Amino acid sequence: MLEKLKKHWGVKSVDLVLIITTFALGGSLCGYAGRQLLLWTGLERGLVWIVFYIILITLLWPVCVLLISYPLGQFGFFRKYVAKIGRKVIGRHRRKSPVRMAIFASGAGSNAERIINHFAGSEEVEVSLVVCNNPSAGVLGIAQKAGIPTLLIEKDIFLNGSHYLPELQQAGIRFIVLAGFLWKIPQALISAYPQKIVNIHPALLPKYGGKGMYGHFVHEAVIAAGEKESGITIHYVDELYDHGQIIFQAKCPVTDKDTPDTLAHKIHELEHAHYPGEIGSLLQKQNPR
Ligand code: GRF
Repeated sequence: MLEKLKKHWGVKSVDLVLIITTFALGGSLCGYAGRQLLLWTGLERGLVWIVFYIILITLLWPVCVLLISYPLGQFGFFRKYVAKIGRKVIGRHRRKSPVRMAIFASGAGSNAERIINHFAGSEEVEVSLVVCNNPSAGVLGIAQKAGIPTLLIEKDIFLNGSHYLPELQQAGIRFIVLAGFLWKIPQALISAYPQKIVNIHPALLPKYGGKGMYGHFVHEAVIAAGEKESGITIHYVDELYDHGQIIFQAKCPVTDKDTPDTLAHKIHELEHAHYPGEIGSLLQKQNPR
């Protein structure tokens, strides 16, 4: 039962314990607060009291679990959980099911985090899976905090085996976002997701792209070449590194004082400012309501 829940919610044992604790404490707090409020109104115990009590605890429950979830580090999980229940209770049925999106990331995950936050509570897009090839990547913790299932992948299976296509299809993934994922995407995935895989590159492609052009190597090359500007490129992924059709670019100045570190900082800011919104616009164009 607990194993099933862990799998269903995509969380670790320790998070499962904290989630169950949040349900228990949130429920108790909600019952207590409901009773105190009714005592304060001076209502006599009886049918009306029971009806009011049920209405009150229905309204108080989300507030109480969110309050408790915060110090227990489970706010991300409960924010999504409460939003989902809210949609069901209020009966706002979606016209279409949301586009289920996977983020492939294997680093710190700052872009993944912005994307997850951007689409939290969205009815159009759901970040349903985080795919990662590095067990110690920061992005895994970010996904777990947000209650998003993760898939840790192995190189041989990814490049020469099933390419994890069955797992992606089973999770209903319709769109893939690369955010700091360094392995080349195999042709089988590109064919299965035509114009449905995007990447962000920390320079103005077609310059400073290709194999080996990642992280500080890009910024070092830009500075060494004496460029006066750099930027970001969001592009479709094809069978070559950093090569697919360009969707969006944004620029920033490069000054004489810039080092690879300061430039990396500027570029990260540009990425955070644009990547989530550009993904949203692209999905809207691809899936008009
Ligand atoms: C970003 O700079 C992106 O351009 C590149 O990988 C980096 C990922 O950074 N593809 P983070 O893990 O999102 O912080």
